[in-house]
Amino acid sequence: MKSFLNVSDIGDLGVALEEARRIKEDRFSHAALGRNKTLLMVFFNNSLRTRLSTQKAALNLGMNVIVLDVNAGAWKLETERGVIMDGDRSEHLLEAIPVMGSYCDVIGIRSFAGLTDRGYDYAETVYRQFVKYSGKPVFAMETATVHPLQAFADLITIEEYKEKPRPKVVLTWAPHPKALPQAVPNSFAQWMNAADVDFVITHPEGYELDPAFVGDARVEYDQRKAFEGADFVYAKNWSCPGVTRPDDYGKVLDDYHAMMGWTVDAEHISWTDNARFMHCLPVRRNMIVTDEVIEGPRSLVIPEAANREISATVVLKRILQAQAGR
Ligand code: CP
Repeated sequence: MKSFLNVSDIGDLGVALEEARRIKEDRFSHAALGRNKTLLMVFFNNSLRTRLSTQKAALNLGMNVIVLDVNAGAWKLETERGVIMDGDRSEHLLEAIPVMGSYCDVIGIRSFAGLTDRGYDYAETVYRQFVKYSGKPVFAMETATVHPLQAFADLITIEEYKEKPRPKVVLTWAPHPKALPQAVPNSFAQWMNAADVDFVITHPEGYELDPAFVGDARVEYDQRKAFEGADFVYAKNWSCPGVTRPDDYGKVLDDYHAMMGWTVDAEHISWTDNARFMHCLPVRRNMIVTDEVIEGPRSLVIPEAANREISATVVLKRILQAQAGR
């Protein structure tokens, strides 16, 4: 594996889930694989879970780890080609990337969407420059449009907790005061479409996700109808993806005070089949979900976050094995 961005990069999901199960039984089972190999984690944006879980995954595999916080101590990077660099950006990504690649064997990238230029974001411009110019395998630690390590951990969690062979999984939009990217819902939709689940997406009109990620999922604008019979409710906010409202790409469409009926509370869960609650974290309590639901016995947010170590270990292991020609 030279790049990890989409569900197709992991191959057969059944095989990947079985690999995850075995890694979870013994997360140090491949501790020699990463000996004398270095992972470079490049963060253009903040992180708690991705930073810690991916670092832990690399340690599980015996790797060395270097972490670069681009906005805390590095030269400010220009990312667009052709600009006259007379501002505060001292270094261009096109030099910085091959330099970074010369110090490591594998690179993880966190680079969120700017939410101003849909074409730039959805072309995954920054991530693809790392793939092109680093000379090293690259994996997404949440990029402009996807968060596959999260979606893989979500799928592992659903597999562990499902009580039916083919559970109903609902992705629901929920209110938030700020404009957030679509990476988590995009990847969640992409991975659920590839998994053996009954998948439904619900959101207010205007928040339609990109059709490439929605795939064959059922979209239900009535949140109550969508929740009926659900076994898993996955809540997440996202800003306008610009599909049905191109001029509003990256915007919050309505004041969140008017949208609080979408907050997942006990009444919402009463519409489901005693659903498990999921969220990628960090979560704004009593905006996305009430204290009662997130602290309740059906909440999976902690085991879901813990599974980030497992998804990252599987992905890094695959990358190292491919590098070793295995
Ligand atoms: N879910 C997730 O990616 O968390 P962080 O932003 O803290 O890494």
